[in-house]
Amino acid sequence: MNTITHSSSALASLSTAQVMELAQRYLTPNYKRFPVCLVRGEGSWVWDAEGNRYLDLFPGWGCGLLGHCPPRVVEAVQAQVAELIHVPNTWYTVPQALLGQALVERLGFDARCFFCNSGAEANEAAIKLARLYGHPHGRYKIISCTGSFHGRTYGALTATGQPKYHAGFEPLLPGFRYAPYGDLEAIARLVDNETCAILVEPIQGEGGIQIPPAGFLEGLRQVCDRHGLLLILDEVQSGMGRTGRWYAFQHWKITPDIVTLAKALAGGVAMGGMIARAEVAEKLQPGTHAATFGGNPLAARAALATVETIEQQGLLARATAIGERFRQRLEALRQRAPLISDLRICGAMIGIELHTEGEPIVHACLQRRLLINCTQRTILRLLPALTISDAEIDQGCDILAEVLTSLES
Ligand SMILES: Cc1ncc(COP(=O)(O)O)c(C=O)c1O
Repeated sequence: MNTITHSSSALASLSTAQVMELAQRYLTPNYKRFPVCLVRGEGSWVWDAEGNRYLDLFPGWGCGLLGHCPPRVVEAVQAQVAELIHVPNTWYTVPQALLGQALVERLGFDARCFFCNSGAEANEAAIKLARLYGHPHGRYKIISCTGSFHGRTYGALTATGQPKYHAGFEPLLPGFRYAPYGDLEAIARLVDNETCAILVEPIQGEGGIQIPPAGFLEGLRQVCDRHGLLLILDEVQSGMGRTGRWYAFQHWKITPDIVTLAKALAGGVAMGGMIARAEVAEKLQPGTHAATFGGNPLAARAALATVETIEQQGLLARATAIGERFRQRLEALRQRAPLISDLRICGAMIGIELHTEGEPIVHACLQRRLLINCTQRTILRLLPALTISDAEIDQGCDILAEVLTSLES
Protein backbone atom coordinates (compact mmCIF):
# COMPACT_ATOMS: atom_id res chain seq x y z
CA MET A 1 0.00 0.00 0.00
CA ASN A 2 1.32 3.46 -0.86
CA THR A 3 1.91 6.06 1.81
CA ILE A 4 -1.33 7.92 2.33
CA THR A 5 -1.73 11.60 3.00
CA HIS A 6 -3.53 12.61 6.15
CA SER A 7 -6.36 14.40 4.40
CA SER A 8 -9.77 13.72 5.87
CA SER A 9 -10.88 12.17 2.59
CA ALA A 10 -8.05 9.60 2.83
CA LEU A 11 -8.98 8.88 6.45
CA ALA A 12 -12.63 8.39 5.54
CA SER A 13 -12.00 6.15 2.55
CA LEU A 14 -9.90 3.43 4.21
CA SER A 15 -11.60 0.08 4.69
CA THR A 16 -11.20 -2.09 7.80
CA ALA A 17 -9.02 -4.48 5.78
CA GLN A 18 -6.71 -1.66 4.68
CA VAL A 19 -6.40 -0.31 8.21
CA MET A 20 -5.64 -3.79 9.54
CA GLU A 21 -2.91 -4.19 6.96
CA LEU A 22 -1.34 -0.85 7.94
CA ALA A 23 -1.58 -1.66 11.65
CA GLN A 24 0.05 -5.05 11.21
CA ARG A 25 2.86 -3.46 9.26
CA TYR A 26 3.48 -0.41 11.46
CA LEU A 27 2.14 -0.93 15.00
CA THR A 28 3.55 -3.01 17.85
CA PRO A 29 1.69 -6.30 18.26
CA ASN A 30 0.90 -5.83 21.98
CA TYR A 31 -2.88 -5.50 21.57
CA LYS A 32 -5.33 -8.28 20.77
CA ARG A 33 -7.70 -6.39 18.50
CA PHE A 34 -11.08 -7.31 17.09
CA PRO A 35 -11.09 -7.25 13.26
CA VAL A 36 -13.17 -4.09 13.27
CA CYS A 37 -12.08 -0.50 12.59
CA LEU A 38 -14.25 2.02 14.43
CA VAL A 39 -14.63 5.44 12.88
CA ARG A 40 -17.45 7.19 14.71
CA GLY A 41 -19.34 7.12 18.00
CA GLU A 42 -22.42 8.73 19.49
CA GLY A 43 -23.82 7.91 22.90
CA SER A 44 -23.86 4.13 23.35
CA TRP A 45 -23.32 3.46 19.64
CA VAL A 46 -20.25 3.14 17.41
CA TRP A 47 -19.90 2.70 13.65
CA ASP A 48 -17.22 0.81 11.75
CA ALA A 49 -15.49 1.81 8.52
CA GLU A 50 -18.10 -0.12 6.53
CA GLY A 51 -20.98 1.73 8.19
CA ASN A 52 -22.14 -1.07 10.52
CA ARG A 53 -23.54 0.08 13.86
CA TYR A 54 -22.75 -1.55 17.23
CA LEU A 55 -24.32 -1.14 20.67
CA ASP A 56 -21.45 -0.48 23.08
CA LEU A 57 -21.90 -1.67 26.66
CA PHE A 58 -18.18 -1.18 27.35
CA PRO A 59 -17.46 2.24 25.84
CA GLY A 60 -13.78 3.08 25.93
CA TRP A 61 -12.96 0.44 28.58
CA GLY A 62 -14.72 2.62 31.13
CA CYS A 63 -13.55 5.96 29.71
CA GLY A 64 -16.87 6.49 27.94
CA LEU A 65 -18.81 7.23 31.12
CA LEU A 66 -20.95 9.75 29.21
CA GLY A 67 -21.03 7.68 26.01
CA HIS A 68 -19.17 8.49 22.83
CA CYS A 69 -18.67 12.16 21.93
CA PRO A 70 -20.82 13.61 24.73
CA PRO A 71 -22.12 16.97 23.43
CA ARG A 72 -20.95 19.18 26.34
CA VAL A 73 -17.46 17.67 26.24
CA VAL A 74 -17.29 18.05 22.45
CA GLU A 75 -18.34 21.70 22.74
CA ALA A 76 -15.88 22.40 25.55
CA VAL A 77 -12.99 20.79 23.67
CA GLN A 78 -13.87 22.62 20.46
CA ALA A 79 -13.91 25.94 22.29
CA GLN A 80 -10.72 25.25 24.26
CA VAL A 81 -8.74 23.90 21.31
CA ALA A 82 -9.07 27.26 19.59
CA GLU A 83 -8.05 29.19 22.74
CA LEU A 84 -5.16 27.32 24.34
CA ILE A 85 -4.30 23.64 23.85
CA HIS A 86 -1.31 23.22 26.10
CA VAL A 87 0.95 25.17 28.39
CA PRO A 88 3.14 23.50 30.99
CA ASN A 89 2.65 23.78 34.72
CA THR A 90 5.01 26.72 35.03
CA TRP A 91 1.84 28.74 34.38
CA TYR A 92 -1.56 28.90 36.02
CA THR A 93 -4.54 28.00 33.87
CA VAL A 94 -8.23 28.59 34.57
CA PRO A 95 -9.54 25.09 33.66
CA GLN A 96 -6.99 23.25 35.86
CA ALA A 97 -7.69 25.41 38.94
CA LEU A 98 -11.46 25.08 38.50
CA LEU A 99 -11.16 21.32 38.02
CA GLY A 100 -9.16 21.00 41.25
CA GLN A 101 -11.96 22.84 43.04
CA ALA A 102 -14.70 20.70 41.42
CA LEU A 103 -13.04 17.41 42.37
CA VAL A 104 -12.13 18.41 45.94
CA GLU A 105 -15.56 19.89 46.66
CA ARG A 106 -17.15 16.53 45.79
CA LEU A 107 -14.66 14.57 47.88
CA GLY A 108 -15.78 15.50 51.38
CA PHE A 109 -12.39 16.43 52.87
CA ASP A 110 -9.65 18.99 52.33
CA ALA A 111 -7.32 17.79 49.60
CA ARG A 112 -5.06 18.85 46.72
CA CYS A 113 -5.00 17.56 43.13
CA PHE A 114 -2.11 16.57 40.90
CA PHE A 115 -3.01 15.95 37.26
CA CYS A 116 -1.44 13.59 34.74
CA ASN A 117 -2.52 11.62 31.67
CA SER A 118 -3.51 8.07 32.61
CA GLY A 119 -4.44 5.73 35.43
CA ALA A 120 -0.99 4.20 35.65
CA GLU A 121 0.53 7.66 35.97
CA ALA A 122 -1.96 8.62 38.68
CA ASN A 123 -1.01 5.51 40.68
CA GLU A 124 2.67 6.19 40.04
CA ALA A 125 2.19 9.63 41.59
CA ALA A 126 0.41 8.05 44.58
CA ILE A 127 3.22 5.52 45.07
CA LYS A 128 5.87 8.24 44.91
CA LEU A 129 3.93 10.43 47.33
CA ALA A 130 3.47 7.54 49.79
CA ARG A 131 7.21 6.84 49.69
CA LEU A 132 8.04 10.50 50.15
CA TYR A 133 5.69 10.63 53.13
CA GLY A 134 7.22 7.52 54.70
CA HIS A 135 10.83 8.34 53.83
CA PRO A 136 11.84 10.23 57.01
CA HIS A 137 10.77 7.17 59.04
CA GLY A 138 12.39 4.57 56.77
CA ARG A 139 9.00 3.43 55.50
CA TYR A 140 8.70 2.45 51.84
CA LYS A 141 6.73 -0.81 51.59
CA ILE A 142 3.25 -0.84 50.05
CA ILE A 143 0.64 -3.56 50.45
CA SER A 144 -1.75 -4.22 47.59
CA CYS A 145 -4.18 -7.03 46.76
CA THR A 146 -4.13 -10.10 44.58
CA GLY A 147 -6.45 -9.76 41.58
CA SER A 148 -5.87 -6.00 41.51
CA PHE A 149 -5.03 -3.92 38.46
CA HIS A 150 -3.21 -0.62 38.82
CA GLY A 151 -1.54 -0.09 35.41
CA ARG A 152 1.52 -0.96 33.33
CA THR A 153 4.29 1.43 34.36
CA TYR A 154 6.82 -0.09 36.77
CA GLY A 155 5.35 1.11 40.06
CA ALA A 156 1.74 0.50 39.03
CA LEU A 157 2.71 -2.82 37.44
CA THR A 158 4.44 -3.99 40.61
CA ALA A 159 1.42 -2.91 42.68
CA THR A 160 -0.79 -4.99 40.37
CA GLY A 161 -1.25 -8.26 42.25
CA GLN A 162 -1.39 -10.59 39.23
CA PRO A 163 1.75 -12.58 38.34
CA LYS A 164 0.72 -12.87 34.67
CA TYR A 165 1.37 -9.14 34.23
CA HIS A 166 4.78 -9.35 35.94
CA ALA A 167 6.15 -12.22 33.87
CA GLY A 168 9.24 -11.21 31.90
CA PHE A 169 9.59 -7.77 33.48
CA GLU A 170 11.42 -8.76 36.66
CA PRO A 171 13.12 -7.46 38.68
CA LEU A 172 10.16 -5.35 39.75
CA LEU A 173 10.11 -2.37 42.10
CA PRO A 174 11.16 -3.47 45.60
CA GLY A 175 8.88 -3.16 48.60
CA PHE A 176 5.52 -4.51 47.42
CA ARG A 177 3.56 -7.16 49.34
CA TYR A 178 0.27 -8.78 48.31
CA ALA A 179 -2.67 -10.17 50.23
CA PRO A 180 -6.02 -11.54 49.04
CA TYR A 181 -8.62 -8.87 48.32
CA GLY A 182 -11.13 -8.77 51.15
CA ASP A 183 -8.87 -10.55 53.66
CA LEU A 184 -8.30 -7.94 56.33
CA GLU A 185 -6.35 -10.27 58.62
CA ALA A 186 -3.93 -11.21 55.86
CA ILE A 187 -3.31 -7.55 55.05
CA ALA A 188 -2.80 -6.65 58.73
CA ARG A 189 -0.26 -9.48 59.05
CA LEU A 190 1.88 -7.99 56.25
CA VAL A 191 2.30 -4.63 57.97
CA ASP A 192 5.73 -4.01 59.47
CA ASN A 193 7.62 -0.92 60.57
CA GLU A 194 8.79 -0.29 56.98
CA THR A 195 5.26 -0.18 55.54
CA CYS A 196 4.06 3.22 54.34
CA ALA A 197 0.73 2.53 52.60
CA ILE A 198 -2.06 0.17 51.58
CA LEU A 199 -3.25 0.51 47.98
CA VAL A 200 -6.59 -1.02 46.89
CA GLU A 201 -9.38 -0.56 44.39
CA PRO A 202 -12.56 -0.02 46.45
CA ILE A 203 -14.26 -2.24 43.85
CA GLN A 204 -11.89 -4.37 41.78
CA GLY A 205 -12.58 -3.80 38.09
CA GLU A 206 -10.27 -5.88 35.93
CA GLY A 207 -10.31 -8.45 38.75
CA GLY A 208 -13.95 -9.11 37.83
CA ILE A 209 -16.11 -6.45 39.53
CA GLN A 210 -15.24 -7.67 43.01
CA ILE A 211 -17.28 -5.80 45.60
CA PRO A 212 -15.60 -5.62 49.03
CA PRO A 213 -17.01 -7.75 51.84
CA ALA A 214 -18.78 -5.86 54.63
CA GLY A 215 -16.34 -4.06 56.90
CA PHE A 216 -13.30 -4.56 54.62
CA LEU A 217 -12.63 -0.94 53.67
CA GLU A 218 -13.51 0.34 57.16
CA GLY A 219 -11.12 -2.30 58.55
CA LEU A 220 -8.35 -1.12 56.21
CA ARG A 221 -8.83 2.41 57.48
CA GLN A 222 -8.40 1.14 61.05
CA VAL A 223 -5.25 -0.80 60.16
CA CYS A 224 -3.84 2.35 58.52
CA ASP A 225 -4.72 4.50 61.53
CA ARG A 226 -3.23 1.98 63.95
CA HIS A 227 0.12 1.86 62.11
CA GLY A 228 0.33 5.37 60.65
CA LEU A 229 -0.10 4.18 57.03
CA LEU A 230 -1.66 5.97 54.09
CA LEU A 231 -4.81 4.46 52.58
CA ILE A 232 -4.63 4.85 48.80
CA LEU A 233 -7.79 4.09 46.83
CA ASP A 234 -7.46 3.44 43.11
CA GLU A 235 -10.71 4.80 41.68
CA VAL A 236 -9.46 4.89 38.11
CA GLN A 237 -12.36 2.64 37.09
CA SER A 238 -14.88 3.16 39.90
CA GLY A 239 -14.65 6.95 40.25
CA MET A 240 -16.44 9.91 38.61
CA GLY A 241 -19.95 8.70 39.40
CA ARG A 242 -19.82 5.28 37.80
CA THR A 243 -21.18 3.55 40.92
CA GLY A 244 -23.79 6.19 41.75
CA ARG A 245 -21.49 8.25 44.00
CA TRP A 246 -18.83 10.71 42.84
CA TYR A 247 -16.24 8.39 44.39
CA ALA A 248 -17.05 4.73 45.06
CA PHE A 249 -15.55 4.96 48.58
CA GLN A 250 -18.49 7.21 49.47
CA HIS A 251 -20.67 4.06 49.68
CA TRP A 252 -18.81 3.32 52.91
CA LYS A 253 -18.01 5.37 55.99
CA ILE A 254 -14.32 5.88 55.28
CA THR A 255 -11.96 8.67 54.35
CA PRO A 256 -8.92 7.70 52.25
CA ASP A 257 -5.65 9.64 52.26
CA ILE A 258 -5.12 9.45 48.50
CA VAL A 259 -7.54 8.76 45.63
CA THR A 260 -6.52 8.18 42.02
CA LEU A 261 -8.71 8.84 38.99
CA ALA A 262 -8.43 8.53 35.20
CA LYS A 263 -10.60 6.75 32.57
CA ALA A 264 -13.87 8.74 32.78
CA LEU A 265 -12.32 11.84 34.34
CA ALA A 266 -12.33 13.92 31.15
CA GLY A 267 -15.24 12.24 29.34
CA GLY A 268 -12.96 10.23 27.06
CA VAL A 269 -10.08 12.69 26.69
CA ALA A 270 -6.84 11.32 28.18
CA MET A 271 -6.41 12.51 31.76
CA GLY A 272 -5.42 11.15 35.17
CA GLY A 273 -5.50 12.68 38.60
CA MET A 274 -4.24 12.03 42.10
CA ILE A 275 -6.03 13.68 44.98
CA ALA A 276 -4.31 13.65 48.36
CA ARG A 277 -5.34 14.82 51.80
CA ALA A 278 -3.96 18.35 52.19
CA GLU A 279 -1.39 17.48 54.86
CA VAL A 280 -0.06 14.54 52.80
CA ALA A 281 -0.03 16.54 49.54
CA GLU A 282 2.28 19.10 51.23
CA LYS A 283 5.14 16.65 50.60
CA LEU A 284 4.92 17.22 46.83
CA GLN A 285 7.15 20.27 46.79
CA PRO A 286 8.61 21.67 43.52
CA GLY A 287 11.08 19.23 42.00
CA THR A 288 9.58 16.09 43.53
CA HIS A 289 7.15 15.19 40.75
CA ALA A 290 5.74 16.56 37.49
CA ALA A 291 4.02 15.77 34.19
CA THR A 292 4.50 18.03 31.17
CA PHE A 293 1.02 17.40 29.75
CA GLY A 294 -0.58 16.95 33.19
CA GLY A 295 -3.73 19.03 33.69
CA ASN A 296 -3.41 20.75 30.31
CA PRO A 297 -6.19 23.19 29.45
CA LEU A 298 -7.77 20.90 26.86
CA ALA A 299 -8.12 17.88 29.15
CA ALA A 300 -9.07 19.97 32.18
CA ARG A 301 -11.79 21.76 30.24
CA ALA A 302 -13.13 18.38 29.04
CA ALA A 303 -13.14 17.15 32.66
CA LEU A 304 -15.03 20.24 33.81
CA ALA A 305 -17.64 19.57 31.11
CA THR A 306 -17.82 15.96 32.35
CA VAL A 307 -18.52 17.05 35.94
CA GLU A 308 -21.10 19.54 34.68
CA THR A 309 -22.86 16.89 32.56
CA ILE A 310 -23.02 14.40 35.44
CA GLU A 311 -24.49 17.06 37.69
CA GLN A 312 -26.92 18.67 35.27
CA GLN A 313 -28.26 15.39 33.92
CA GLY A 314 -28.59 13.78 37.37
CA LEU A 315 -26.31 10.94 36.31
CA LEU A 316 -25.36 9.77 39.81
CA ALA A 317 -28.97 8.70 40.40
CA ARG A 318 -29.08 7.35 36.85
CA ALA A 319 -26.02 5.13 37.54
CA THR A 320 -27.93 3.48 40.39
CA ALA A 321 -31.05 3.04 38.22
CA ILE A 322 -28.96 1.54 35.40
CA GLY A 323 -27.51 -0.98 37.83
CA GLU A 324 -30.97 -1.93 39.04
CA ARG A 325 -32.34 -2.39 35.53
CA PHE A 326 -29.40 -4.63 34.58
CA ARG A 327 -29.86 -6.55 37.83
CA GLN A 328 -33.53 -7.23 37.05
CA ARG A 329 -32.84 -8.32 33.50
CA LEU A 330 -29.80 -10.42 34.37
CA GLU A 331 -31.41 -12.09 37.42
CA ALA A 332 -34.29 -13.13 35.16
CA LEU A 333 -31.80 -14.41 32.59
CA ARG A 334 -29.96 -16.36 35.27
CA GLN A 335 -33.12 -18.40 35.91
CA ARG A 336 -33.06 -19.47 32.24
CA ALA A 337 -29.29 -19.67 31.81
CA PRO A 338 -27.60 -21.62 34.60
CA LEU A 339 -24.29 -20.76 32.88
CA ILE A 340 -24.37 -17.61 35.01
CA SER A 341 -22.83 -18.42 38.39
CA ASP A 342 -22.81 -14.97 39.98
CA LEU A 343 -23.88 -11.39 39.36
CA ARG A 344 -22.00 -8.48 40.90
CA ILE A 345 -23.37 -5.02 40.29
CA CYS A 346 -22.64 -1.60 41.77
CA GLY A 347 -24.27 1.17 39.73
CA ALA A 348 -22.89 0.98 36.20
CA MET A 349 -20.14 -1.55 37.10
CA ILE A 350 -21.51 -4.94 36.15
CA GLY A 351 -19.85 -8.32 36.43
CA ILE A 352 -21.48 -11.53 35.19
CA GLU A 353 -19.53 -14.57 36.32
CA LEU A 354 -19.95 -17.69 34.21
CA HIS A 355 -19.32 -21.40 34.64
CA THR A 356 -17.63 -21.26 31.23
CA GLU A 357 -15.08 -19.25 29.22
CA GLY A 358 -16.36 -15.78 28.36
CA GLU A 359 -14.32 -15.08 25.20
CA PRO A 360 -16.59 -17.07 22.80
CA ILE A 361 -19.55 -15.15 24.23
CA VAL A 362 -17.85 -11.81 23.57
CA HIS A 363 -17.30 -12.92 19.94
CA ALA A 364 -20.86 -14.17 19.56
CA CYS A 365 -22.10 -10.80 20.84
CA LEU A 366 -19.80 -9.00 18.39
CA GLN A 367 -21.37 -11.02 15.54
CA ARG A 368 -24.69 -9.59 16.72
CA ARG A 369 -23.17 -6.10 16.93
CA LEU A 370 -23.04 -5.90 20.71
CA LEU A 371 -19.76 -4.86 22.40
CA ILE A 372 -18.97 -6.31 25.83
CA ASN A 373 -15.79 -7.36 27.67
CA CYS A 374 -14.52 -10.51 29.32
CA THR A 375 -12.04 -10.39 32.19
CA GLN A 376 -10.36 -13.13 34.24
CA ARG A 377 -11.47 -15.65 31.56
CA THR A 378 -14.95 -16.32 32.95
CA ILE A 379 -16.35 -12.93 33.92
CA LEU A 380 -18.28 -10.75 31.49
CA ARG A 381 -17.82 -7.09 32.33
CA LEU A 382 -20.10 -4.23 31.34
CA LEU A 383 -19.29 -0.57 32.01
CA PRO A 384 -22.20 1.10 30.20
CA ALA A 385 -22.47 4.84 29.66
CA LEU A 386 -24.55 6.67 32.26
CA THR A 387 -26.42 8.20 29.33
CA ILE A 388 -27.69 4.82 28.10
CA SER A 389 -31.48 4.58 27.73
CA ASP A 390 -33.68 1.84 29.19
CA ALA A 391 -34.46 0.70 25.65
CA GLU A 392 -30.74 0.35 24.89
CA ILE A 393 -30.18 -1.62 28.11
CA ASP A 394 -33.02 -3.95 27.12
CA GLN A 395 -31.66 -4.32 23.61
CA GLY A 396 -28.23 -5.26 24.98
CA CYS A 397 -29.70 -7.70 27.50
CA ASP A 398 -31.85 -9.31 24.78
CA ILE A 399 -28.77 -10.01 22.66
CA LEU A 400 -26.82 -11.32 25.64
CA ALA A 401 -29.78 -13.54 26.57
CA GLU A 402 -29.97 -14.88 23.01
CA VAL A 403 -26.25 -15.73 23.04
CA LEU A 404 -26.21 -17.28 26.52
CA THR A 405 -29.37 -19.34 26.05
CA SER A 406 -28.22 -20.59 22.64
CA LEU A 407 -24.97 -21.74 24.25
CA GLU A 408 -26.95 -23.34 27.05
CA SER A 409 -28.98 -25.43 24.63
C1 LIG B 1 -8.38 0.31 38.59
C2 LIG B 1 -7.41 0.68 37.50
N1 LIG B 1 -6.29 1.32 37.82
C3 LIG B 1 -5.40 1.68 36.88
C4 LIG B 1 -5.61 1.40 35.55
C5 LIG B 1 -4.59 1.82 34.52
O1 LIG B 1 -5.09 2.89 33.80
P1 LIG B 1 -4.38 3.35 32.41
O2 LIG B 1 -4.60 2.25 31.43
O3 LIG B 1 -5.07 4.64 32.08
O4 LIG B 1 -2.94 3.55 32.73
C6 LIG B 1 -6.78 0.73 35.17
C7 LIG B 1 -7.01 0.39 33.75
O5 LIG B 1 -7.79 -0.46 33.40
C8 LIG B 1 -7.70 0.35 36.17
O6 LIG B 1 -8.82 -0.30 35.87
